[in-house]
Amino acid sequence: MNSAGIVTVSYIAATILFILALGGLSNQETARRGNWYGIIGMAIAVLATILGVVTQHYTLLLVALLIGGSIGLMLARRVQMTQMPELVAILHSLVGLAAVLVGFANFMDHSTALTGVELTIHSIETYLGVLIGAVTFSGSIIAFGKLSGRISGKPLMLPARHFLNLGLLLVAIWCGREFAQQAAVGGGMVPLVIMTVIALIFGIHMVMAIGGADMPVVVSMLNSYSGWAAAATGFMLSNDLLIVTGALVGSSGAILSYIMCRAMNRKFLAVIAGGFGTGGGTTVSGGEVEGEVVPIQPEETAELLANAKEVMIVPGYGMAVAQAQHTVYEITKALRGKGINVRFGIHPVAGRMPGHMNVLLAEARVPYDIVFEMDEVNEDFPNIDVSVVIGANDIVNPDAQEKPDSPIAGMPVLEVWKGGTTIVLKRSMATGYAGVGNPLFYKDNTRMLFGDAKDSLDAVLKAL
Ligand code: TAP
Repeated sequence: MNSAGIVTVSYIAATILFILALGGLSNQETARRGNWYGIIGMAIAVLATILGVVTQHYTLLLVALLIGGSIGLMLARRVQMTQMPELVAILHSLVGLAAVLVGFANFMDHSTALTGVELTIHSIETYLGVLIGAVTFSGSIIAFGKLSGRISGKPLMLPARHFLNLGLLLVAIWCGREFAQQAAVGGGMVPLVIMTVIALIFGIHMVMAIGGADMPVVVSMLNSYSGWAAAATGFMLSNDLLIVTGALVGSSGAILSYIMCRAMNRKFLAVIAGGFGTGGGTTVSGGEVEGEVVPIQPEETAELLANAKEVMIVPGYGMAVAQAQHTVYEITKALRGKGINVRFGIHPVAGRMPGHMNVLLAEARVPYDIVFEMDEVNEDFPNIDVSVVIGANDIVNPDAQEKPDSPIAGMPVLEVWKGGTTIVLKRSMATGYAGVGNPLFYKDNTRMLFGDAKDSLDAVLKAL
């Protein structure tokens, strides 16, 4: 087999492995295997490209691989679980930047002489790759800034912002026409540069207008864009693997955005239009809710738990902050040892990224068969004796169902208040990510266990 044949076979193998990886990642029991498929697929893809496609400049390539690889390794080692969405956002920006740079380089490279329709199609591929890449690049940087608190999470609401976006879109379309025409006669740099600037501004403006509460959807939407940018680049370079991989990333990102929108009861178009939410959990009051709060101590909590038959644990962002998952598992083991049925109820957007709680619980070796999705357990709450809400807030807020004018109205929530007693672990009466008060804390059957979740749970475990 010649080297082109080997590259094609390797690319097909990599494609299959990427599809298996996505399939594996959809379930926590197979996620680890899915990751391995992805790693092996990517190793094959990179090796086949280096050995079979690249013909010169090996030193440059190796130096770039070494630098990029080391930075990636360092970042992955250093990043805290709670900073994962920021890391993902900044990595998407690199995909966008790569698409822009490759697009420009390919445009300036005149070694392959295309003519007629082929040239026009190639120009459109280049244009689209740069356009989507530039939006992804600047949008992801703003998303990174918002998620890491460097930029306010408040939506930026410019007057007539939809018209501004429409204007930018029209100019980008006009530039595209100019670009295709000028490229046919050897020009086109000016419209390409103008469009790149417009796309960068559009990316910034689009994400600036989106509020803190919608940021998870934005990150997965940018993930989808980065895939489409890669696919367009694949068409431009006639690289089948890049086309397929880009399409896989693009469509899986779009599906994830849709699932998240549904979990937050938000319309995808409303998210893109922006304007919802605040800086995210910065309010330190209890919101607009009033009433009496009943605190509880760890010893009493242990007693309640020990006397229960059915316990439901609802983890949220605070469990991740406190790194309380290992203690949670110790308590689960102790309770199960007493014959108590302990289960976990996981909200699809608990924490700060999809699957956040599942990852933490898996790390602490909580058995998968007692970890359930919200829809699987929500009807069971009337049979639950004690629910333990660990650093969760928005995902257990009854206002989502009961107050139509609440900013989170319609978001599906775990109905913990329908159980016997609800114990809420948090440090204060501060609001959660959406910045809204939570009447759960004031209900007759709710007890507040104030303090860092890890400290509180350590004390509960000791008392148990
Ligand atoms: P939140 O509503 O953000 O509430 C977390 C609570 O944890 C806070 O009220 C905080 O109260 C408490 N907390 C923080 N550190 C703690 C610690 N060390 N010990 C004990 N408690 C601690 O979290 P949630 O209920 O998991 O809801 C997730 C929210 O984030 C949703 O609004 C969702 O839309 C949004 N979001 C989700 C994602 C994804 S994809 N999962 C991504 C971005 C945003 P105190 O300050 O009083 O302790």
